[in-house]
Amino acid sequence: MKTGMLFLMLLPYNNNCIPPFYYYVCRQISSRMNMKSFYIGNKEIKLPIIQGGMGVGVSLSRLASAVANEGGIGVISVAGLGLFYKQSPDYLKNCIWGLREEVRKTREKTQGVIGVNIMVALSNFSDMVRTSIEEKVDVIFAGAGLPFDMPSHLTKDSITKLVPIVSSARAAKIICAKWLANYNYLPDALVVEGPKAGGHLGFKREQIEDSDYALENLIPEVVSVAQSYHDVKHIPVIAAGGISTGEDIARFLKLGASAVQMGTIFVPTEECDASDIFKQEYVNSHEQDIQIIESPVGMPGRAIAGEFIRNVQDGREKPRSCSFHCIKTCDYEKSPYCIIKALYNAAKGNMKKGYAFVGANAYLTEKISSVHEVVAKLKDEFQFATKGVSI
Ligand SMILES: Cc1cc2nc3c(=O)[nH]c(=O)nc-3n(C[C@H](O)[C@H](O)[C@H](O)COP(=O)(O)O)c2cc1C
Repeated sequence: MKTGMLFLMLLPYNNNCIPPFYYYVCRQISSRMNMKSFYIGNKEIKLPIIQGGMGVGVSLSRLASAVANEGGIGVISVAGLGLFYKQSPDYLKNCIWGLREEVRKTREKTQGVIGVNIMVALSNFSDMVRTSIEEKVDVIFAGAGLPFDMPSHLTKDSITKLVPIVSSARAAKIICAKWLANYNYLPDALVVEGPKAGGHLGFKREQIEDSDYALENLIPEVVSVAQSYHDVKHIPVIAAGGISTGEDIARFLKLGASAVQMGTIFVPTEECDASDIFKQEYVNSHEQDIQIIESPVGMPGRAIAGEFIRNVQDGREKPRSCSFHCIKTCDYEKSPYCIIKALYNAAKGNMKKGYAFVGANAYLTEKISSVHEVVAKLKDEFQFATKGVSI
């Protein structure tokens, strides 16, 4: 218990205020009632918050374990892992090694639920899925493309849950139908990532600002796709993109989501695996600094604009060779810059040679705090927004 709370409890009780001790007890009980746990398959997630996977080097074992220790799902992003583990000259082999190491380190620090985020656009998507299943990771989140063959990697004794990330009800319908037809398997949950998210966006440029594509509209549509399978399987829907307060969480749960996925809010934390310079970019950012850029992945992305992006626009960052072959569709001779190097440099704090991906609300960041403080604030805001009424 915080010293401040102890002090409040010891304050003399007078008729004009609620006795501090009772206030404290009521707050504890009602906050427990409010943020309801949810299930992905048979796995209970006590706090309905998933930390979005953030490559390159932004969400590794330190951040993932801190969020899992709060009761949410802590997620390691596999994007660029081979740059942090240089066991062999082969980047793709190093990615497999790095994934095993990060899972082991996360498990050392938490007993909670852990996930891995794997972009479908990665050339080693299948290797990363197979390795995650072998390592008995609780959940795989697969975005930046539709993971049509992901269930083919499941084995008889696998315990890993499979969760595609979609940006429309149409994509949700297609993936459910294909998995059911080809593998007699349905997604264990669906993350719906709206246009305010950080990182790569599953929208055309003109859709990003179009209110028809707002997350508030997408969630009920995807919930109704999930419900159309309710006789076969319960598929929880998870809302993502631009969610930054407990009030936002309450709003999306009311719309039918079972949980939320948040990325940006966990970057300016002590536990985030990126450098302090990267985190400080968030704290110092203004709304007008946040821009939509084209990525070599072939999708738009949201980032903090700076010197590196200006150099790219002037054609001064063209790669001369490529030893990674990390993105399926990337042809380095046609690419304006090497995305994996740019994101790696940024995560390490070299902002002249890279840029930070961010969600639309990153400019709201005031300071760097701990994951525990972030979660406590969200719980308080949620409770205030719902006035103690269970959602
Ligand atoms: C720095 C950064 C890196 C990201 N990297 C990935 C990634 O590697 N794979 C992915 O599927 N999503 C990635 N995302 C998206 C997040 O997982 C999350 O879904 C999204 O940011 C949610 O929106 P929010 O940031 O507004 O909370 C990234 C986001 C950020 C901010």
